[in-house]
Amino acid sequence: MKVLVTGGCGYIGSHTVVELLQEDYEVVIIDNLSNSLKEVLTSIETITKKKPIFYEGDVVDFSLLRKVFSEHSFDAVIHFAGYKAVGESVQKPLMYYRNNLESTLHLCEVMKEFGCKRLVFSSSATVYGSPKKLPITEEMPLSTTNPYGTTKLMIENILRDLSSSDNEWSIALLRYFNPIGAHSSGLIGENPKGIPNNLMPYIIKVAMGELPQLDIFGNDYNTKDGTGVRDYIHVVDLAQGHIAALNKVINSTGIDACNLGTGKGYSVLELVQTFEKVNHIKIPYQIAPRRAGDVAECYADCSYAKKQLDWSSKKDLETMCRDAYHYISVLKKSTDI
Ligand code: NAD
Ligand code: UFG
Repeated sequence: MKVLVTGGCGYIGSHTVVELLQEDYEVVIIDNLSNSLKEVLTSIETITKKKPIFYEGDVVDFSLLRKVFSEHSFDAVIHFAGYKAVGESVQKPLMYYRNNLESTLHLCEVMKEFGCKRLVFSSSATVYGSPKKLPITEEMPLSTTNPYGTTKLMIENILRDLSSSDNEWSIALLRYFNPIGAHSSGLIGENPKGIPNNLMPYIIKVAMGELPQLDIFGNDYNTKDGTGVRDYIHVVDLAQGHIAALNKVINSTGIDACNLGTGKGYSVLELVQTFEKVNHIKIPYQIAPRRAGDVAECYADCSYAKKQLDWSSKKDLETMCRDAYHYISVLKKSTDI
């Protein structure tokens, strides 16, 4: 089986490529390295002893897509490529609409042209907007609160229309909750440039002494300890969810959306305390005002993923915290040498 992975050098993409290679899929990656480094390919090879084929370029580029599809015959595509920062999408909406929508439209057009109609798409729990009920099930109403989220919802709708127009398509819409952690080897993980927006990368920068303290955005929510509650999922569990989704799209047709989370909600304070405990390191913090647009609680009902994909997460919060820190420690050691 040969799979095209767009955005395969990124955080979730690289972990998924590792799982694919370990399951003996042949992998071809297209990535323009706008938010990743080419060195990740060496790390993938070190972990798996296998080499994915790599094309450096843009998924928006029709001529590149046609070249890649004429050089390979794909059984399916996993589409990770896109921009993902909520705050940046508010500042630069056109950039987000162009990249996320055009990459998906052009990819699907070329897939259709070459007769490859199996797609796994990276959606997000952000399509549930401010959920009225918890845990979140796939049938709950969809809405968005920022341009990034709107691109995901628009793409879900485009893919639904595509599926209705031609019943040969087989599409999985995977709605990720909060992926954190890293591969246990410490060779791949998440290390965003600049000041991070998301909680775990911020905690890591504080742990490394690169930022003085964590701001906890609000401790007056109606939650167990007043801080925001999220469904953190280990990135390797998430990557394995893609293998399960791939099996599903290869063996069926139609379109289906699935939550990928753990079904458990942890507060910001619980995450900080777990990180401190497993890594034996203090994370100084202060309580800051609520962040605009945040919801109090967000966690998944994962029973549909279990039923449809025969997949469920396995790794606990302690492993997520340990692996996230291990990756950065390995990275720091290798750059210090
Ligand atoms: P990432 O930024 O680490 O990876 C995305 C990759 O796509 C990067 O390597 C980037 O260089 C590449 N890319 C972007 N636009 C491209 C283009 N036009 N052509 C070629 N390559 C391009 O992000 P990630 O965390 O791995 O997320 C992967 C996908 O999952 C994204 O679509 C994101 O929106 C979605 N998602 C992520 C999260 C999360 O918290 N990380 C949550 C929900 C959904
Ligand atoms: N938080 C802090 N301090 C920080 C960063 C975050 O207290 O410096 C808190 C937030 O207020 C929230 C929790 O930590 O309560 C998690 O925040 P993240 O920014 O890590 O994650 P979000 O749940 O806000 O959003 C993420 C992605 C979205 C995606 C969503 C659901 O950024 O793209 O998960 O998958 F849509």
